[in-house]
Amino acid sequence: MNSEDVYKLEVIVEDEVLASFCQRELDACRKILCSSPLFIKLSEGMVGLGNLNEPKQGLVFVDFVGGTMAHRRQFGGGKKSEAVARACFGNMNSPVIFDATAGLGRDAYVNAYLGARVHLFERNPVVRLLLKNGLDRAMSSDNSDFFRERMILEDVSTISEYSGDVVPDTVYLDPMYPERQKSALVKKEMRTFHELIGCDEDRLELLDDARKIAGKRVVMKNPKWAPILNEKVRTAEVVTKNHRFDIYSPLLRR
Ligand SMILES: C[S@@+](CC[C@H](N)C(=O)[O-])C[C@H]1O[C@@H](n2cnc3c(N)ncnc32)[C@H](O)[C@@H]1O
Repeated sequence: MNSEDVYKLEVIVEDEVLASFCQRELDACRKILCSSPLFIKLSEGMVGLGNLNEPKQGLVFVDFVGGTMAHRRQFGGGKKSEAVARACFGNMNSPVIFDATAGLGRDAYVNAYLGARVHLFERNPVVRLLLKNGLDRAMSSDNSDFFRERMILEDVSTISEYSGDVVPDTVYLDPMYPERQKSALVKKEMRTFHELIGCDEDRLELLDDARKIAGKRVVMKNPKWAPILNEKVRTAEVVTKNHRFDIYSPLLRR
């Protein structure tokens, strides 16, 4: 990041009640520096992420109840047609999954509605706030029990800080890689997300941490072009048009 293009994340509060509910998360967000003028807006119970340079562009929200995620749940295929579930479930019907890079929670949601219990970890305070807000809203929907039981946002931000007694069957990793397609193929809203996170360079460390705590398998999602991180302990792969899910053995099989 050049010193000329460092911006402090702007926090726009239109909903004071919501702001008072997430004061701790907002304090962490106010310290974030970005390479473009990004902002978060709290309005009518929702938290959205936007870019001041792109006023016409929509905000990024997490919405499990309406929108594309609910559509995917209703009309998408089952376990066999969702590559993420094929990779994370193996032969298990209802695995416990630690989603160590929860992001906007899309993969976690797919795994949860296909039968898993998912514990979510997210280290970026802004993404964590978007995710928490999406889950809070989902928990006041008709389907609140599902979200409470199957999508658990952990208080700690990374799996290496986890001190609870749940042993996950699967640890799922989907770190951010550098963007290769600058084209319209990457939706504008997602570009804002990329600008916020950048690239997660500590993938190898994350894989090692995951192998220490996983009971049965670790799954890492990569773009197809990405190198395999540890060939010696890779046991299988699930390949789609643009991605490769590498399956690694845990350090200790339980
Ligand atoms: C590509 S996104 C994940 C998208 C997610 N799978 C989804 O379906 O929405 C990667 C996310 O992982 C988070 N992340 C990367 N490394 C992490 C780590 N070691 N611990 C916690 N979060 C991490 C990043 O902050 C980012 O939000």
